Amino acid sequence: MAVRFELVTTDPTGARAGILHTRRGSFRTPMFMPVATHAAFRHLAMEEVKETGASILLANTYHLMLRPGTEVFKRFGGIHPFMQWDGGVLTDSGGFQIFSLPEDRLITEKGAHFRSFYDNSRQLLSPESSIAMQQSINSEIMMVLDVCIDSRTDEAGTREAMERTHRWAVRSLAAKNQVDTGQALFGIVQGGVFPHLRDESAAFLTQLPFDGFAIGGLAVGETKAERETMTLRTTASLPADKPRYLMGVGTPTDLIEAVLRGVDMFDCIIPTKMAQQGYAYTFQGLVRITRTVYRLADEPLDAECDCYVCKRYTRGYLQHLMRGKHHLGSRFLSVHNVRHYQKLMGRIREGILSGTYDQVARELKAAIATPKD
Ligand code: GUN
Ligand code: ZN
Repeated sequence: MAVRFELVTTDPTGARAGILHTRRGSFRTPMFMPVATHAAFRHLAMEEVKETGASILLANTYHLMLRPGTEVFKRFGGIHPFMQWDGGVLTDSGGFQIFSLPEDRLITEKGAHFRSFYDNSRQLLSPESSIAMQQSINSEIMMVLDVCIDSRTDEAGTREAMERTHRWAVRSLAAKNQVDTGQALFGIVQGGVFPHLRDESAAFLTQLPFDGFAIGGLAVGETKAERETMTLRTTASLPADKPRYLMGVGTPTDLIEAVLRGVDMFDCIIPTKMAQQGYAYTFQGLVRITRTVYRLADEPLDAECDCYVCKRYTRGYLQHLMRGKHHLGSRFLSVHNVRHYQKLMGRIREGILSGTYDQVARELKAAIATPKD
């Protein structure tokens, strides 16, 4: 087994606490993976990421196949020695990036044909080439290439994308089984906002020997209510003994809600993207550090936080850095936000393990919703 999921508790709400055992460590779930798309964080050194407590990160096949390319990963023996990261890595397949490619892309049964953003060279991302690339990256967890569409697509279009996703999932498994690299492979449930398509997709994929299942095609234009309904609808059809991963979600509130619906794993660019825009998460709500009221504020960003930024720097100084567009400002807020997400997951896990997640979720949501500033 490339990964083994140990389900520790399911609480009365349906929230689960577990441990995902991989060859690069055992990760407690529910867990959040910060996003290092290009095998790098825009403002964070790997040491800083490690210090936040994050032990598994996400990288993107689509970006890495274009630059630095497969030869580089083969030469360096994979992403871990290349980027000096000894924790876990999950690679997304490129399915989500195909969805946002420019107009001149061509998606056929074979795969996605497009031109490289860097040198205009012709590229093919197919289920087989995505697996080959993820094997050279040597992530712990690979994802199948899928067809992700806008949530507002009609039923016929959504079915077509789902059925192709299923055929590509079968091809991805076959490609993976050509060589045993010890990597895990997750299937991705699609089906848009149509409950019966979500059921059908989960039923199809769970017959195949995947190591875990992702919920895809969410946070792409649907309402919050639709997202939550589809999440619950999907987890209800997934086996209890395999990890469930909600792709690309989300805000702290989204994570709290999705855990209530039985999700174990998350990734999102929100903590680092919001940091770049001057926003810091706290358990009392979001702080927009550039607000004039913080100009003379000599208190820490978040008095409850144990990150080195909160231990050392004032809101006034952080505002100065952000208003002056100093990279150090984005870096400090990123350190804090990535740490905050890890602490949030810690509180969620404690709640589940102590059988009080229902209450913990309500308290966390109420506190976050309280505008502090
Ligand atoms: N990231 C966010 N949503 C998706 C999805 O539907 N598919 C893939 N491959 N990645 C995602
Ligand atoms: Zn902090």
